[in-house]
Order: sequence, then structure tokens, then C-alpha cells
Amino acid sequence: MNADQSFEIEIERIVPGGMGLAHAGDKTVFVALAAPGDRVRVKVEREQGNVLFASIEEIITPSPVRIEPPCPYFGRCGGCDFQQLTYEAQLAAKAEMIRDCLHRIARLESVPDFVVTPSPNEWRYRMRATWQIDHNERTIGYYERGSRRVCDVVDCAVLREEMQGELEEVRATEWREIPDELKHLDVVEGENGVSFSPSFGEFRTRELSLSVRGEVYHYNAEAFFQINPSLLGPLIDFALAEASGESVLDLYCGVGLFTLPLARTFKRVIGVEANPVATGFARRNLQRAGLTNASVITASVTDWFRRDPGAKAPVDFVLLDPPRAGAETAVIKGILDVKPAQISYVSCDPATLARDLKKLIAGGYTVGSVAAFDLFPQTHHVETVVRLTAT
Ligand SMILES: C[S@@+](CC[C@H](N)C(=O)[O-])C[C@H]1O[C@@H](n2cnc3c(N)ncnc32)[C@H](O)[C@@H]1O
Repeated sequence: MNADQSFEIEIERIVPGGMGLAHAGDKTVFVALAAPGDRVRVKVEREQGNVLFASIEEIITPSPVRIEPPCPYFGRCGGCDFQQLTYEAQLAAKAEMIRDCLHRIARLESVPDFVVTPSPNEWRYRMRATWQIDHNERTIGYYERGSRRVCDVVDCAVLREEMQGELEEVRATEWREIPDELKHLDVVEGENGVSFSPSFGEFRTRELSLSVRGEVYHYNAEAFFQINPSLLGPLIDFALAEASGESVLDLYCGVGLFTLPLARTFKRVIGVEANPVATGFARRNLQRAGLTNASVITASVTDWFRRDPGAKAPVDFVLLDPPRAGAETAVIKGILDVKPAQISYVSCDPATLARDLKKLIAGGYTVGSVAAFDLFPQTHHVETVVRLTAT
């Protein structure tokens, strides 16, 4: 079977990364936008040794969990790759992806039972987005699947109402008023409006705020903030539930989502974050909350661990919430050097999470409990929290 060939297969399951898995002879086939149980005719797009990457040409027998994707951009837009699944099937696929990574990559012999908490809103949940802008084609939206072409999106069904309203405002702007150098726009919503980065015309980088579990967080579109506000309370609750002791490190702390609640229960908190805009907000968020027992350092976590490693200990608890790429090797080493009794690892990518867990387990930690939160309905992405204790 070579590129461009087509053949029939049955999708066995959804694997980490969101593709459907099938087998054809001695070949493993990964199929985009599939549902487990689909009988499909696929076309090979790419071949890599014994692995074929394919797209669906025809659905011969649809899976019982397949539905008609409601979004007109589905398949072309690179944003949502799970709309073909019922919401229950999306959650089941995410649980399976996490179990697969913890078992196969982290080498956990028995993965603790866990649930993927559903998002209260399956649609219109997204309060943060990046809109791509192509001046030549006069298109605004998201990259197309597997390409850098911009899919022109009039209505994005996962954006919250206010964000959708702003997308319409941006799209209604005269092209001559959109600066030529503006290739993408970061946009985030808060309880008091919407912030843009960079600013242009009436679309400004404004300071916003959002309350979660009684804490008030200020931020703008230049700093990271979570995409789906509806599950942030339960996420924080689980990540911090067993945290105890006097001193804590909050690594990759952003504007302080975990730093503020940590500062209420620990005597000493150190937050580390590379983005100076985020650390500025984190410090002001702590100050406005009257919390004086936390300090926030602007540095890459790797550099911070490399600098004066002896000064980091003692630490009772480490919360880490790195970007999708996971924690750098030097960060895992730094954590192992300070030997906290407890670790909570918050991750938006089960594969890099599992890679890092393997190193933490080899360094003397045991996985206690796992929970997942569906912050990203209609996509294969999922937020996972793993709590570990020193053995
Ligand atoms: C997934 S976000 C988590 C932020 C925060 N914990 C929250 O929940 O809002 C990851 C954060 O890591 C920061 N970051 C990325 N690479 C970093 C690095 N090497 N060192 C420190 N911070 C980094 C990003 O700016 C971002 O704020």
C-alpha cells in the first residue's frame, strides 16, 4: 500500500493525538477524523515505514458513536477533530488515550481508576483563541488541518458568545484598517470584556478579571489564561486537595491560577514563570488578595533550577503545569533534587505527561491518583492531573 492508494479498514480505537487506529496486513494505519467501529474506505496520504497516515474517502458502515459534525468547517478547519463523535464517545476516547499513555509510556502497571469530568458546555465554552489573518486571501480564522492556509471562519461554534461577537467585529473591520504586519491576533475574554494582542484600532490589550473559587485573577491577552472557565474550580480543587506542608513551588505559574490558593494554605510559596507580563499580573493578583507569603520569579524554570540549586530546598509540595511540550529534563532533575513529599502534575498533553512521569517514578515517586477534565470539547485535547508521593 502506497501513498494515494485506497482500501477498506475498520477503526479499532482512538489513540493519543486523536487519530483512529486500524491495521491492514502488516501495516498500522492512523486515520484522521475517525470513530471507533467505523468501517471506512481510506486514502493513504503519507507512509513512514510500516505506518500509514490516511484520510477517509467513504464511510461504508458508520460507528454507532459517529454523528454528523454540526460545524460547516469541520474537516477543513484545524481546530476541532472530535466533532464526528458523540460527546460520551469523546470522553471515553480521552480516558482511553490517557490510560494508554500512562500504561505504555509511563510504564504504570496498574493505572488508577479515574473519570474525565465533562465540560458543562460542549459548545460555546472557549474564552481564549488565536485568530489567523491572511491579507492576500482576505481570510480570518484558524489554520486549515495540516496546513498554514487560513480557513475563513464566520462562526466558530466553540467560542463563547462574547468571543464570537468580537470575531464578527474583527471580520467587519475594513481590510485597510488591519495593519499588514498583523498575522495573528490573540484574544481572551474575562468577566469585564475582551482583550486583544496586539492592539489595533478599537481592539485593545485591556486588563480583564475573572473569579474562580473566590480568588480574583487579572490578566490580558499577552499572558496565558486557561481556555475553558467552567472547570477551573474542580481542576484547582483536585490538584491541591492533598497538598500539605510549609513550602511549595508553583512551576509555570502563569498569572497565578494555583499560586493564590496555594498561598492561603502554605507558609512560603515560590512561583516561577517565563512570561514577564504573566508574572506582573501574578504579583499584582497576590498583592490585591493581601497575600504576602508568595514570591513570583520571572525566569524559565530550567534556568531557575540551574541557578543556585542548593537554595531551592526544602520544599514540601510541587505543583507543575507546563506547556504542551511538558517539562524539560533539567526541570525533572531539579524537582528530584529538591525532593518534595508530594507533586501535582497538571498537563494538557497525556503523552508528554507520561514521558515526564516515567522519570519521576524512576526518581522515587509513586502515582497516587489521577483525574481528567474536559477543558477542550470537540477536540482530542484533555487536561489531566496526576498526584504523586515520594516513596
Ligand atoms: C499551561 S500554562 C499554565 C499557567 C498557569 N499554571 C495557569 O494554569 O494559568 C504554562 C505556562 O508556562 C509558561 N512557560 C512556558 N515555558 C516556560 C518555561 N520554560 N519556563 C517557565 N514558564 C514557561 C507559559 O508562559 C505559561 O504561562
